[in-house]
Amino acid sequence: TPSVGLVGWRGMVGSVLMQRMQDEGDFANINPVFFSTSNAGGAAPSIAGAAAGAAGKLEDAFDVDTLAKLPIIVTAQGGDYTKRVHTELRGRGWDGLWIDAASTLRMNDDSIIVLDPINRDVIDKGLVNGTKDFIGGNCTVSCMLMGLGGLFKNGLVEWGTSMTYQAASGGGARHMRELLSQFGTLNAEVSSELDDPASAILEIDRKVLAHQRSDIDATQFGVPLAGSLIPWIDADLGNGQSKEEWKAGVETNKILGTSDENRIIMDGLCIRIGAMRSHSQALTLKLREDLSVAEIEKLLADDNEWAKVIPNTKEDSMAGLTPVAASGTLDIPVGRIRKMEMGPEYISAFTVGDQLLWGAAEPLRRMLNIATG
Ligand code: HSE
Repeated sequence: TPSVGLVGWRGMVGSVLMQRMQDEGDFANINPVFFSTSNAGGAAPSIAGAAAGAAGKLEDAFDVDTLAKLPIIVTAQGGDYTKRVHTELRGRGWDGLWIDAASTLRMNDDSIIVLDPINRDVIDKGLVNGTKDFIGGNCTVSCMLMGLGGLFKNGLVEWGTSMTYQAASGGGARHMRELLSQFGTLNAEVSSELDDPASAILEIDRKVLAHQRSDIDATQFGVPLAGSLIPWIDADLGNGQSKEEWKAGVETNKILGTSDENRIIMDGLCIRIGAMRSHSQALTLKLREDLSVAEIEKLLADDNEWAKVIPNTKEDSMAGLTPVAASGTLDIPVGRIRKMEMGPEYISAFTVGDQLLWGAAEPLRRMLNIATG
């Protein structure tokens, strides 16, 4: 039973990861060693179904001597932690497996982005060839590839645009709380008018807008998200593109392991909206072949057990293709598939995925299972 260091298990992504590992019985195959950046010496969490001898005390997540004794470390602690501790560990020659949710190491030549239903071949080759850093992908990229794997894996996409509708959870737990608080204060501003069916809607709207423009708390997002949207996510790269938008192209190709001449051009705009934890995206894809919608739907449905094709009707789309439908599930609904007026090789699609599951925790626990399996 390999000992596995777990760091950042208490945060939002880490908590989802711990829950998924317990749900799937992963702890039966490992000896978990829990680390903490703030509470070393405290009690480790008790894990149902853990191999004997688990739990005990929390180790210090900055104690590189203790970390270096482990063959595998899984971290959801964040990029600053990775930058500091991964560098120290590798610097002293630690050659264990580092499985990480943060983006810090993602585009390094000697790391692999893990999304095994899409790139198991890349992962297996990396394990044979001595790759040691296995990093979870950006949430929108992972969710898109899970939904549209049938087209991407078969080399059928020449280029694509992905226009995203990203949930508050992508910013973090505090961002989710802020969104809900904003919804609450917006409602409170006008609750008496809402109770009165005869009140004037334009007066309600004026009061809401006045609150959004003045005293609404937007500490986390910087500007109000409730009743609005934010058309920029992550850093400004200075070329008109946001870092989140840059990731779509580079990570898609890295995950798929495409060669330079087969590079798939992916670009689009990334937008924050007031959803809780599922990211959505509207895609335009230029295919290399004129496939029928039925052929496309079959390719997508057959690719992996989580891609769930939603028939392109109003009723099915409203019921099955929303953050409310997808959140808390491993399903990646993919729908709105139709030929666009630009020509027979141009299709639209819309996918939704739980940003904390396939977008963050699930690829990590699956990578751990591949490594220990
Ligand atoms: N960058 C993503 C977002 C989350 O802000 O939605 C992490 O992949």
